[in-house]
Amino acid sequence: MDEEKLEQLVHEADRVVPRPTPKEFFRKQPHKSLENISDYERLYKESIENPDGFFGKMAHKFLSWDRDFDKVSWGSFEQGDVAWFLGGKLNACYNCVDRHAFAHPDKPAIIFEADDEKESRILTFKDLLQQVCQVAELLASWGIKKGDIVAIYLPMTPEALIAMLACVRIGALHSCIFAGFSAGSIKERVFDAHSKVVITCDEGKRGGKITHAKQILNEALKECPEVEKVLVYKRTGNPKVEMVEGRDFWWQKECEQFRGYFPPVPVDSEDPLFILYTSGSTGTPKGVVHCTAGYLLGAAMTTRYVFDLQPEDTLFTAGDVGWITGHTYSLYGPLVLGVPTIVFEGTPAYPDMGRFWKIVEKYKATHFYVAPTALRMLKKSGEAEIDKYDLSSLRTLGSVGEPIASEIWKWYDEKIGHGCCHIADTYWQTESGSHLIAPLAGAVPTKPGAATLPFFGIDAVIIDPQTGKVLEGNDVEGVLAVRSPWPSMARTVYQCHQRFLNAYLRPYPGFYFTGDGAGRDHDGYYWIKGRVDDVVNVSGHRLSTGEIEAVLLESKKVSESAVVGIGDDLTGQAVIAAVQLKDSHLVHDAETMIALRKELRLLVRKVIGPFAAPKSIIIVDDLPKTRSGKIIRRILRKVCSGEAKSIGDTSTMANPHVIVNLVSEVEQQF
Ligand code: WTA
Repeated sequence: MDEEKLEQLVHEADRVVPRPTPKEFFRKQPHKSLENISDYERLYKESIENPDGFFGKMAHKFLSWDRDFDKVSWGSFEQGDVAWFLGGKLNACYNCVDRHAFAHPDKPAIIFEADDEKESRILTFKDLLQQVCQVAELLASWGIKKGDIVAIYLPMTPEALIAMLACVRIGALHSCIFAGFSAGSIKERVFDAHSKVVITCDEGKRGGKITHAKQILNEALKECPEVEKVLVYKRTGNPKVEMVEGRDFWWQKECEQFRGYFPPVPVDSEDPLFILYTSGSTGTPKGVVHCTAGYLLGAAMTTRYVFDLQPEDTLFTAGDVGWITGHTYSLYGPLVLGVPTIVFEGTPAYPDMGRFWKIVEKYKATHFYVAPTALRMLKKSGEAEIDKYDLSSLRTLGSVGEPIASEIWKWYDEKIGHGCCHIADTYWQTESGSHLIAPLAGAVPTKPGAATLPFFGIDAVIIDPQTGKVLEGNDVEGVLAVRSPWPSMARTVYQCHQRFLNAYLRPYPGFYFTGDGAGRDHDGYYWIKGRVDDVVNVSGHRLSTGEIEAVLLESKKVSESAVVGIGDDLTGQAVIAAVQLKDSHLVHDAETMIALRKELRLLVRKVIGPFAAPKSIIIVDDLPKTRSGKIIRRILRKVCSGEAKSIGDTSTMANPHVIVNLVSEVEQQF
């Protein structure tokens, strides 16, 4: 972010007076979890001063236990051995399904809005229990047991949620792989987790188009010898979809054999619930491990207190189960509270730009949760569609995944919420499991663009990155960290605890390091500035620049590559790649260059996924480097952001002359 913009932001923060939750919000649903800021302050204080007392109480309030826990918390950031609710036993599927099915069998659990509206359907808690049990028993009959990791490569359909719940019912872990990932990324994840079973569908439907899940998976599995069985949900029924005899089985056909009740397996609080791969600064994706009780409690508490989700509400999280938002706020958060969750298969632009709003009206959704990238798109080209729909059911509007600019926040508030909703900008991460900083509905006044105040139990601190010292008081800026463990935090990286320690607990000993820069304004409100490492956030998808660089190097024509993220009006950040060729003569042939750019973009699409493809590829004969030969990405970022004039000191560069060439390449490309 340039100095001027930052300055503007700080001024804005100074001027804005926090807005209390609108009165209309209370009128729509008088029974509230929290009534005002003193409720928040009192509970927050208690959660920090006496975390064991506070979370012990909450764990009894929100979860059903097979055996009560003996000790609320254990371990420390110094030791890296954090654990919660020790000795307790429970089952996450029982908590999300059975207990609600017993109390309200006919209450909707999953409201499925299909890409083609006509294929939509509703599953009650009773239906959900039956279908989850069938898959659970099938998996058990295939030998899947406690601790095994089942890979799930499914688009946003009820079956994705059913498959996840079926795994946890028998104590197995799910490892969801985002449906937009290509064969290379699937292979990497299935391989790393030693998954013996993968669950997928024949084809998917999205935005009026067919996606080829099974075909892509087939390619990935060529290099995954450990996979013994594949369960395939028949979504489109295309007879051309290739099934491998003895390995692949149809979901519907197999499940028919089972009656629809299979007992849940109680597991220990600290038994892992799932792994989810995410990008870090370096190397291959990390399999972040979440454990059962702490994660589930974080999901329940944040969904209740940040969103104020009540039993009679309906939550529409427009995310994907392939990412953490889909895990916590499409599945676990709403279902553990027994609240219907809307699962949407399609895109906001199909069949027209009014799709989200049509869904809100159709199901009278009370809560809507989405990434700012979708809001930016809808503000730009979907305004005409909004007024056609009745959005008066809405009470809470959430934002997630990237900073929300104040003008988008205001637009969301006025145009979608009609000034009557609580706007929750929720800051969190795959590793945090649930919200870290977010305004609690009804209690914490909001400021457009600010994530506001930390959630219960989150002792947020701002650290000076140079000195490593905690910056006390308000009006400070630095990197964001957390001082003490919270229940839903990730416990480790799958089979690589050192990576976990290095990424999160060692950079600032005694603290959990988020990887984000942040400021705390004069009211004590937090403003998230974005990543301070090599993670790029494109439309809320988290990508590692190192991973994309490695893929570009797979091309025989490329000798060096550097990838940076730059600001983009629509996607938040965009991926820009600069490559140096092995044969520098090629650079002079314009047509070859056009073809090469296309080829490299395709390579990234193929290996990682379409969403990772660089927006622009700059071909240069040399990259900016230090004298020791390290690529200086900062310079590339500056030039690509049109800020070549403010590059600053280049005295440490080995080849300052490359800047001129870089600038001219960028000017031609952008
Ligand atoms: C960014 C997504 C600003 C941040 C839930 C974080 C945000 C990364 C916000 C995690 C927000 C998420 N404001 N930035 N409200 N929410 N981020 O793991 O950089 O996919 O570290 O989890 O997204 O991305 P992840």
